[in-house]
Amino acid sequence: MNNKILEVRSISVRFKTKTKFKIILKEVERYKIAVDNVSFDVMEGDTFGLVGETGSGKSTIARTLVGIYKPFTGEIYFMGKKIDFKRKNDLLYLRKNIGIVFQDPVGSLNPKLKVREIIREGFSIEEKYSKSEQDKLIVDITRKVGLGESKLDSYPSELSGGEKQRVSLARALVTQKKILILDEPTSSLDVSIQAQILNLLRKLKSDFNLTYIFITHDLNVIRYMCNRMGVLYYGQLLETGNVKEIYESPLHPYTADLMNANLTLDSSLDFTSQYDIGEPSRKGCIYKNSCKKRFELCENPPNDVELGERKVKCWLYKNIIETQRM
Ligand SMILES: Nc1ncnc2c1ncn2[C@@H]1O[C@H](COP(=O)(O)OP(=O)(O)OP(=O)(O)O)[C@@H](O)[C@H]1O
Ligand code: SF4
Ligand SMILES: [Mg+2]
Repeated sequence: MNNKILEVRSISVRFKTKTKFKIILKEVERYKIAVDNVSFDVMEGDTFGLVGETGSGKSTIARTLVGIYKPFTGEIYFMGKKIDFKRKNDLLYLRKNIGIVFQDPVGSLNPKLKVREIIREGFSIEEKYSKSEQDKLIVDITRKVGLGESKLDSYPSELSGGEKQRVSLARALVTQKKILILDEPTSSLDVSIQAQILNLLRKLKSDFNLTYIFITHDLNVIRYMCNRMGVLYYGQLLETGNVKEIYESPLHPYTADLMNANLTLDSSLDFTSQYDIGEPSRKGCIYKNSCKKRFELCENPPNDVELGERKVKCWLYKNIIETQRM
């Protein structure tokens, strides 16, 4: 069995909102909870998919895993080491080992820099390479991501969408990484280019012995790329497990609704635009307002139930918890 490379334990991430309110003349900050008590494990060699509609917290989790945001509760263990988000060295340790390709390939590339210098940004956390060593590694990685060497002297505006994404990949992988987080790496690309990038990602994973965390809206892409997955809904992780098992028999009503909707909807399987998901419930189970299976217990927030390697946050499986306790 593969080793656990990353453990995410009950993390919550919140953002200060602009609105403040006063209680007895004292100003109180308000927060938006973007990630709510989320736990999952990533095993070495996994391609772990995170799926969820817009605003469900996918990018916030990604950014937390590379230390851009700090969880206000919960813990993250990377290769068995607990990360202290207040320690610079721990954040550096995360950034050296976990690369990220950001959601917006255009906005994440500095338009004033040539490709060579954009890729060089990947060395900002590694001091051990001389300029000439960097230059050699830049040329190597450029070839490995399938970008012509002549593109090193281009500006981002002179590149196609697919080429820009290859530059982002080159910057993330110019120094060795254990995990690469891919935040919607193909959503801005034409369908034909998407397939090229997905195949390139498969090749890079094997060339560099990488573990992927793959964020997408597209359930087809999850099925093609990932072996394990988690389903997010308004900041909560409702189901995790093996991709094949989840597709064959989704346990959580939300996952089942997504899968059923996809059978009858357009083949792009982008549920965000196609599936009308209701507002989350503030009390009890978060999916209560849309769930066709809700019953009395759903007025209370459900806990995670572990069923072998599957995990599901739903009262329907309460009897299984009780049997496990006996
Ligand atoms: N820097 C921030 N400040 C305040 N709120 C934020 C910030 N970043 C994200 N949020 C809020 O947190 C929630 C989760 O956002 P996030 O970007 O993680 O969603 P997402 O699942 O990546 O969505 P998308 O599919 O649209 O990329 C949203 O409600 C968003 O508005
Ligand atoms: S806990 Fe209840 S409301 Fe929530 S998903 Fe399960 S059955 Fe539906
Ligand atoms: Mg996002």
